[in-house]
Amino acid sequence: MKLWGGRFAKETDALVEEFNASIPFDKRLYEEDIRGSMAHCRMLANQGIICGDEAEQILAGLAVIKEEMDRGEVEFSLALEDIHMHVEKRLTEKIGPVGGKLHTGRSRNDQVALDMHMYVKKEILETVALIGNLQEALVNLAEDNLDAVMPGYTHLQRAQPVLFAHHLLAYFWMLQRDRERFLDSFGRADWMPLGAGALAGTTFPVDREMVASELGFAKLYENSMDAVSDRDFVLEFLSNSAIMMTHLSRLSEDIIIWNSQEFGFITLDDAFTTGSSIMPQKKNPDVAELVRGKTGRVYGHLMGLLTVLKGLPLAYNKDMQEDKEGLFDTVDTIKICLRLYAAMLRTVEPNKERMYAAVARDFASATDLADYLVRKGLPFREAHAVVGQLVGKCVAENRQLVDLTTEELTEACSHFEDDAKEMLPPEACVEARQSRGGTARSEVEVQIRHAKSLLINE
Ligand code: ARG
Repeated sequence: MKLWGGRFAKETDALVEEFNASIPFDKRLYEEDIRGSMAHCRMLANQGIICGDEAEQILAGLAVIKEEMDRGEVEFSLALEDIHMHVEKRLTEKIGPVGGKLHTGRSRNDQVALDMHMYVKKEILETVALIGNLQEALVNLAEDNLDAVMPGYTHLQRAQPVLFAHHLLAYFWMLQRDRERFLDSFGRADWMPLGAGALAGTTFPVDREMVASELGFAKLYENSMDAVSDRDFVLEFLSNSAIMMTHLSRLSEDIIIWNSQEFGFITLDDAFTTGSSIMPQKKNPDVAELVRGKTGRVYGHLMGLLTVLKGLPLAYNKDMQEDKEGLFDTVDTIKICLRLYAAMLRTVEPNKERMYAAVARDFASATDLADYLVRKGLPFREAHAVVGQLVGKCVAENRQLVDLTTEELTEACSHFEDDAKEMLPPEACVEARQSRGGTARSEVEVQIRHAKSLLINE
């Protein structure tokens, strides 16, 4: 007999049971469900809605069920639909009909909303900690390689020399905003829905403040229909995850390119690469590729839930059960991506000579030559044209800017003097960019100090 079987004359069709059940995935919420039920039970007793003795039996029963579930001893069945009914059924099996009093003044609609809020809050904090670990790995890799100069790119064309550390730290700051975004969303997951009942509130004199304070919620939902029908706190988790995965995916792309034979800027550790079943020489950056690939499924889960919710009338609709699998998969996906990335970055070996070679004989210092002319009084636009012509000449003659003699330079523009060629070494270009947030070593060191203080103080 179903917990809701009273008005039914027939058994549920087996296929419907299978289709309708959420237990295969919402069993993950058992801890939240039991903790929420315990708080609800204490409140019922405190308000005199059930008596103290009944509450004690219920609480003891729930504690045992929690242990059984911890040990994986409880058998789940599709017929019992979801985690809420499994716990309740088990409770009445253990302590008899008094277990049936637990659901007083409550509906699965506010119960599932409560569980989901508790779960999302927990996962936000875990995600924030994992992002912090990855940020730390980035700072360490940057700090250990402050002398590495490489080309900075736009359009994947060599643009201006930068420190390898500067490029890495760009990702630190992206992840810093991701961390802040998750933390900021915590405040909105921190609204307590229980007491909304099925949708309209409850006829029992419940004390919602008490439940909220027992479970560590900062706020109450002010409207029972809102409390049971919105999943914006899940959407925010998915959206924060999608944005963060965009950052990891771009980092992956950089790692994959740097690790290619053509670039050869870094070497990935054997432990974080895989081989080919046919080509014996292969060592593939699968971790980075898979992180890039998994970004797609995280985006998909966000679009999936947005689409599920967009046409739903208030309040609860069964459609909303579809909030779970995408969220759970997102949680699992982002956590393993963050863990793997932190571990992989700790083993990355930069090949500084290759990086330097890519920028040493190159036109990446062209801007610096133009800036030189500007400092001599030429308008930037004219300076740009002069250097552009010099680059054109070099390309035609298969030479580099460093190969030009001072005479050739002064011939192109009388403002060039002996010191002009001092602008050309890549490290000079890097050092010259001491603007706040620029790539000069002194500025990158400022970034590293700031970055480390953020990791310690949060
Ligand atoms: N398993 C359901 C869900 O995940 C729980 C709420 C069910 N409520 C209901 N009235 N059918 O959404």
